[in-house]
Amino acid sequence: MAVTVESKGGAGPAPSYVTTPAWRFLLSLPVDRRLARHDVAGSIAHVQMLGDVGILTREEAGALARGLQRIYRDIETGSFRWREDLEDVHTNIEARLTEDLGPLGAKVHTARSRNDQIALDERLYLREAVAGVQQEILRLQLALLDLAEAHAAAPMPGYTHLQRAQPVTLGHHLLAHFWRLSRDHRRLSDAFDRANVSPLGAGALAGSTLPIDPAITARALGFAGPFENSIDAVSDRDYFAEVLFDLALLAVHLSSLGEEVVLWASQEIAFVRPAAALGSGSSLMPQKRNPDVAELARGKAGRVIGDLVSLLATLKSLPLAYNRDLQEDKAPVFDAVEQVLGTLDALTSTVSALEFDEARLEAAASDPRILAADLAEYLVSRGVPFREAHETVGRFLADPDATMDANALRNFDPRFGEDVAAILDVKASLARRGTHGGPSPQAVKAQIARAHDVVGLERYSLSKHAESVELVDRLLKEEAP
Ligand code: ARG
Repeated sequence: MAVTVESKGGAGPAPSYVTTPAWRFLLSLPVDRRLARHDVAGSIAHVQMLGDVGILTREEAGALARGLQRIYRDIETGSFRWREDLEDVHTNIEARLTEDLGPLGAKVHTARSRNDQIALDERLYLREAVAGVQQEILRLQLALLDLAEAHAAAPMPGYTHLQRAQPVTLGHHLLAHFWRLSRDHRRLSDAFDRANVSPLGAGALAGSTLPIDPAITARALGFAGPFENSIDAVSDRDYFAEVLFDLALLAVHLSSLGEEVVLWASQEIAFVRPAAALGSGSSLMPQKRNPDVAELARGKAGRVIGDLVSLLATLKSLPLAYNRDLQEDKAPVFDAVEQVLGTLDALTSTVSALEFDEARLEAAASDPRILAADLAEYLVSRGVPFREAHETVGRFLADPDATMDANALRNFDPRFGEDVAAILDVKASLARRGTHGGPSPQAVKAQIARAHDVVGLERYSLSKHAESVELVDRLLKEEAP
């Protein structure tokens, strides 16, 4: 949105409540003007409620709503003249309404405070931000799901401690990232539901002596309902803290996916082929193709974690109810949302462009030592207690030169039978790992089907969220009665 910010001066003097020698310090417009859309929609719902309960006449309410819609059109086209001397987005819009409508404009703030107003704007913003992040999470999940389907049966080494541990399939490994993201999606839906409560009508902290009805504005804006306690309504910032945590954990998940792409792209491992979509080149070394996107995805997590810590530090020890410290709550949330959206988008392009070298993955997974646990389980199936089987295979492998084939094993311990040769094949080993949630190609197929079901549920919850968000658009655009 293009905006012009004027410094001191403009049409009409600033109201006394924002006039102070420290106005530059108190100024929040550069941060909160991005809430204009939500601020105007909230005001429209508010004046309509004032009309419904008879505090304003129908005509007054209609004229105010239309005046607010006109202001929103100017904000959208960038012709709205923002004034920094008016401190914040709320006062800018109210002053302009009064400029346009005269004394009627000054009625918009009846039975309202900037304290319940900002809490409302934040919740309206957050609903949209959460839905936007969820949309992007889903895109990355679909990219991972595509890749997983393409490589459902491809063997690769699974790791613990970054050491080759047991064979898995590439599809299985990629789906591990899918499920993390599905929890992130769910967590954000939970946060959406808790944020979806209207604080409007709490006033400064103690409601109003006028006969307002907070349930009416709550309904008009698509909230599940109004607040229960006016003091809590103006001081609660749980919705921001909760979403910031969800974003920080999501960023941590993305950093871990990023780290794996970096490892896979290194020449030492080379599980993926170098591709332009991974990042950019080096300004000095012509041969370089760096996995910049994945590296930066790793790096952004630190920043988003910082945003969470910043907000929690602001909230710590605040007495009830509203305190001006709370003005510092917005910047970390806006930053985290922006960074996470950017990371998701870039990482989705990178993941979609990953070209795996299946032959190399299979060669790495064919390291016979990776089947040591299979050998121990083979002995178990022949009646050897597990601990003893583990010791036996361990002793065999203690010789670094031991070739792990059927003959050597049989010579080492006669409890290994003729059929042990069949154990030493990676694909056969994978096929045996068919229990629920396991890595066998068959089990991965079943897992992919469940992942598609989850995608359906996520789409459904996105459509539910969109219903609330659409009400905001309708208030801003639809002809007011
Ligand atoms: N700029 C304030 C904030 O972001 C808005 C509420 C101001 N309330 C007040 N009484 N000064 O929290």
